[in-house]
Amino acid sequence: MCGIVGYIGKNNPKEILINSLKHLEYRGYDSSGIALKNKSDIQVIKSVGKINSLEEKLNNTELINSNMGIAHTRWATHGKVTVDNAHPHSTSHITLVHNGIIENANDIKNNLLTEYSFKSETDTEVIAALLNKFYEEEKDIYKALEKMISIVKGSYALAILVDNLDKIYAVRKNSPLIIGIGKNEYFIASDISAIIDYTNKYILLGEEEIGEIGFNDLVVYKDGNVCKKEIKTADLIKEDVSKGNYEHFMLKEIMEESSVFRKTLDKYISDFNNLIDLSNYEEIHIVACGSAMYAGMVGKNLLEEECSIKVDVECASEYRYKKVFYDRKTLVILISQSGETADTIAALRKAKSNGADTLGIVNVKTSSIAREVDYNLFIEAGVEVAVATTKAYLLQVLALSFLAIKSKYKVLSEELKEELRNIPSLLEEVLNRKEEYKKIANSIYQSEDVFFIGRKMDYAICMEGSLKLKEVAYIHSEAYQAGELKHGTISLIEDGMVVVAIITEEDIKDKTISNIIEVKTRGAKVILVTNDGSLPKYDFNIVVPKINKLFQSMLVVPVLQLIAYYTALLRDCDIDKPKNLAKSVTVE
Ligand code: F6R
Repeated sequence: MCGIVGYIGKNNPKEILINSLKHLEYRGYDSSGIALKNKSDIQVIKSVGKINSLEEKLNNTELINSNMGIAHTRWATHGKVTVDNAHPHSTSHITLVHNGIIENANDIKNNLLTEYSFKSETDTEVIAALLNKFYEEEKDIYKALEKMISIVKGSYALAILVDNLDKIYAVRKNSPLIIGIGKNEYFIASDISAIIDYTNKYILLGEEEIGEIGFNDLVVYKDGNVCKKEIKTADLIKEDVSKGNYEHFMLKEIMEESSVFRKTLDKYISDFNNLIDLSNYEEIHIVACGSAMYAGMVGKNLLEEECSIKVDVECASEYRYKKVFYDRKTLVILISQSGETADTIAALRKAKSNGADTLGIVNVKTSSIAREVDYNLFIEAGVEVAVATTKAYLLQVLALSFLAIKSKYKVLSEELKEELRNIPSLLEEVLNRKEEYKKIANSIYQSEDVFFIGRKMDYAICMEGSLKLKEVAYIHSEAYQAGELKHGTISLIEDGMVVVAIITEEDIKDKTISNIIEVKTRGAKVILVTNDGSLPKYDFNIVVPKINKLFQSMLVVPVLQLIAYYTALLRDCDIDKPKNLAKSVTVE
């Protein structure tokens, strides 16, 4: 979703801000803008579409000499994609950029209508107008910000310029913001990857803290007091946010799966004794969104079938509002790559306020979820830039397999360790069969609809395979529990319809085969992905190595990820930034 960057220092803010904005493109956006400032002027330039068009506008404009600035990528929520709605928003004294959603924007706006005429449809301009009013009343930006914080409801990360002050102000609530520390220069960013070309040192701004950033000093306040902040060092290097020799981040990240698996595995093996044992709980809820929820479905299958622990998987946007019973000893597992997904954070807060224990399976260690849960089981995916998650999904499943191992066996046997240590090379073998996946992509890329069918664990895998195809290749696809087809959906199966069937589970193998025969009889083109080389041959059979059920899905999903990738490539899709999608869904 929206991204924020800011800069104050001796270098050219325009170059730094544009370069940093480009590192935020992965979050998803549809317009962008920049404000440059010197002692007397603030210049705002905005554009719809890609950052290149903003850059072009900047190159064709006479720019003021500046030594600080703020910039933004906007993913439209309040108001259409227009230049007026793009950030920064300016009032007479205040120019700001904003991530998040202001829940009481309408009420505030109505109160301001007599004194301010709004130029955009955004909730952001409402905060700019409110802050402007308070600044005029108080003549003190700090007091004005405190007043604003006490009134505004919802989520916000703000970077703020004030016309007559030589500083940038940063403030946040329920939306992340960091302040990067360079040599005699400071940066503001939604996440460290945006400014990694300049610094890996940063502080995390806390909830409702106000950062006052000057040329030579940075002070953070909360409730009138100066806060002592820890300077963190990101374990991120420039190469992590570059495509290297790959055409797309998605492909790079899929090909990294074996190495991130090894890294996460080593950590899990050495920390095994400290791992939480789920059998100590009477109720387990796994709550997440999208792919993270589908990883949760794999986890549910493992925990129920292998450990006899009953698990409910819920999508966070429902969980946060539905009636949930917390009358038994409950652990709520929140799965999130970014750790900033608004619905998942809300679900976490609901669980905590109802006295449940919470465990995060998160990639970004500094994220809100990581900070708020009782226990963390981090995955080590590194930065994931492509909007569609791949390597993080795989590691979420690995984390859940470890929870199953702990709950089932209590100790990690040498045999299991051996099996686990073999997986990265098997993964490489699966990932390297690209020619097979390209052939399949070639055969399905003109399809309008695709069905994925499977049972139990295989169905959970289908959900992820289907989502990948939809989101990156823009092909309508449905994941179906194979036995359900007959109850209506089979009427859609006709000559040439693509059906991807997954079979990895021994006990339901014959049942899914019967379902394949049913669709084949009606003319479907069948792609079977299985761990059983003895199954009948269909239009395409991909046979992956057979391994322990606890880990099997991790050899199947990469096949589906690569088929989706190559299909999207043939359809000329914007693979790393699919339309309408955002990497980190920080609003409801
Ligand atoms: C799909 C995808 C999304 C995310 C979902 C949750 O490829 O990436 O479905 O899985 O938006 O995001 P996180 O894991 O950051 O909470």
